[in-house]
Amino acid sequence: MDVFKRLWTYVRPYKLQFILTTIVLLAAVGVGMVGPYLTGLLIDRVIRAGELDLLRLLTVGLVTASVVGSVLQYTHGYSFEDLSQKVIYSIRHDMYNHLQQASFSFYDEAHTGELMSRLTGDLEGVRVFMVGGFPMLVSSMVTFVGVTIVLFNMNAKLTLVCLSFSPLLAITAVSFEKKVKQAHSDIRHQMAAFNRFLQENITGIRVVKAFAREKYEIERFRAENSKVYEKNMIAGLLNGRFGPLLEFLSSMSVVALVSYGGWLVMRGEMTVGILVAFNGYLWSLIWPMRQLGMLLNLTGWAISSGQRIFNLLDTNVSMPVKPNAYKPDKVRGDVRFDKVTFKYGGDIVLEDINIDAPAGKKVAIMGATGAGKTSIVNLICRFYDPQKGRVLVDGVDVRDWDLKTLRRNVSVVMQETFLFSDTIANNIAYGNDNASMDEIVAAAKAARAHDFIMEMPQGYDTIVGERGVGLSGGQKQRIAIARALLINAPVLILDDATSNVDMETEHEIQQALKRLMVGRTTFIIAHRISAVKDADEIIVLEKGRIVERGSHDQLLQARGFYYEIFKEQYKDLVAENVAPELVTDDEDEVLWLG
Ligand SMILES: Nc1ncnc2c1ncn2[C@@H]1O[C@H](COP(=O)(O)OP(=O)(O)OP(=O)(O)O)[C@@H](O)[C@H]1O
Ligand SMILES: [Mg+2]
Repeated sequence: MDVFKRLWTYVRPYKLQFILTTIVLLAAVGVGMVGPYLTGLLIDRVIRAGELDLLRLLTVGLVTASVVGSVLQYTHGYSFEDLSQKVIYSIRHDMYNHLQQASFSFYDEAHTGELMSRLTGDLEGVRVFMVGGFPMLVSSMVTFVGVTIVLFNMNAKLTLVCLSFSPLLAITAVSFEKKVKQAHSDIRHQMAAFNRFLQENITGIRVVKAFAREKYEIERFRAENSKVYEKNMIAGLLNGRFGPLLEFLSSMSVVALVSYGGWLVMRGEMTVGILVAFNGYLWSLIWPMRQLGMLLNLTGWAISSGQRIFNLLDTNVSMPVKPNAYKPDKVRGDVRFDKVTFKYGGDIVLEDINIDAPAGKKVAIMGATGAGKTSIVNLICRFYDPQKGRVLVDGVDVRDWDLKTLRRNVSVVMQETFLFSDTIANNIAYGNDNASMDEIVAAAKAARAHDFIMEMPQGYDTIVGERGVGLSGGQKQRIAIARALLINAPVLILDDATSNVDMETEHEIQQALKRLMVGRTTFIIAHRISAVKDADEIIVLEKGRIVERGSHDQLLQARGFYYEIFKEQYKDLVAENVAPELVTDDEDEVLWLG
């Protein structure tokens, strides 16, 4: 019931249309009941009693009833379709908005394929009910009541005899429905799993090919495909089994009508015309009973789909925000971590992290893979909340910030580059719709992307494939850097942003960034000494803890973790006994790179 109450909130804006359409539907049912009555009259009064003048009137009546019936049917069919599409449009819109608000943690756990099922199959379940189930429910109920009254008026005994089979018919239809409901729920579960499988597979097709696992995947697909087949077969066979049974029970009513009704006619207790009319009405009574199964089915489908849809809509998936969130006009860009401890759910990923980065400071983070580098910067953008301690931007806890304002003032080049299938220019301007072409080009130049973009067939208007297919890893990264630079935010985060470019390009980007980083608080995550050595503070992270911190020179002198990394990366020079201080000098660096 709750599902229908919720559904009503979406229908309510179109209340008038809904009521009028329902009235038209009822009128159509009413007009449908005229036919058998007129046919009965035609037989009794025209054929048997020879009242020829009535023939024309009855013919006109029958034709009119048919025409009006068709027009009404068309009208409510059209209007229910229209209504259902409008309602589904609003629900789809709300679902998408909801998903856009959802947090990183939500997507960490969600399966794309299943979310897609929710937005497609489940919505279809609700729509089919609105366009088919609901009108069927109303017309069946009204027909059932109306026709039963008419039949009792015609001949009560005959009605009772004919309807004696109907409890059996109804029971069969309902038990059929129960089985079908289970079968359909199985089908939908299987379809969700199937979608998940397909989605993952198509996205990962390159890995499949690279490892020549096509056969294995086809085998896995075959298993999933067979399950879809089996579940559909179960539902199909149920139809095959119950269909003839329902048919048999229905025809028994007709047999009862013809034999008992015929006997009544022969005894002169009933006219042939009434028998024929009775026959017509009986069918319009059997029909809703036979449809009962399908009706309950459609309703069941709508309920289970609706539950899944509204559950998703009701689950609070976004980051909690405070009512009077901090929304400054100008952001300085001070970033501070105050005794931060964080875990995604399981083990502790960051422990007791303290960082003080006043506006303009450059902090570099180094550490082995899985040390927690990305996790640190995730907290600045408030992609996740820490369990202990606080992350402060401009002295305000990020949990007190207006989320949009916070994120607009932090530009991130994420570790995994994602480009949309759109033009290069639009990909660069993704975070800043108002950017002019000049600004886009300037950002691309700073990210050392301009030259290769100009070599592309349509330059900045070249459309890149899904996720940036058609570009090299380094090219994608440079577009991502340009995108981040264009936001012009006081805090800049570069998470392994140059891992895919060669040393020389990295050096060039560093030089360009140097100018851009002036006045910006910057967090650079990198593995190469050359990328971090100029930072004001270098933090070395190990298993979620800061094990070393200081400037390049301080850390070299400390002869600790950083020095070990340095030795590894500059082993030739170290072997030649060149003092580390010498190597770090900018000129030597260029010389060395050259
Ligand atoms: N979304 C997540 N859910 C659960 N655990 C996660 C999630 N992201 C990362 N982790 C775990 O947190 C730890 C730190 O991961 P993080 O991504 O911060 O490492 P990293 O230092 O950035 O590594 P890399 O150099 O490989 O990028 C790892 O053990 C990782 O398995
Ligand atoms: Mg990382």
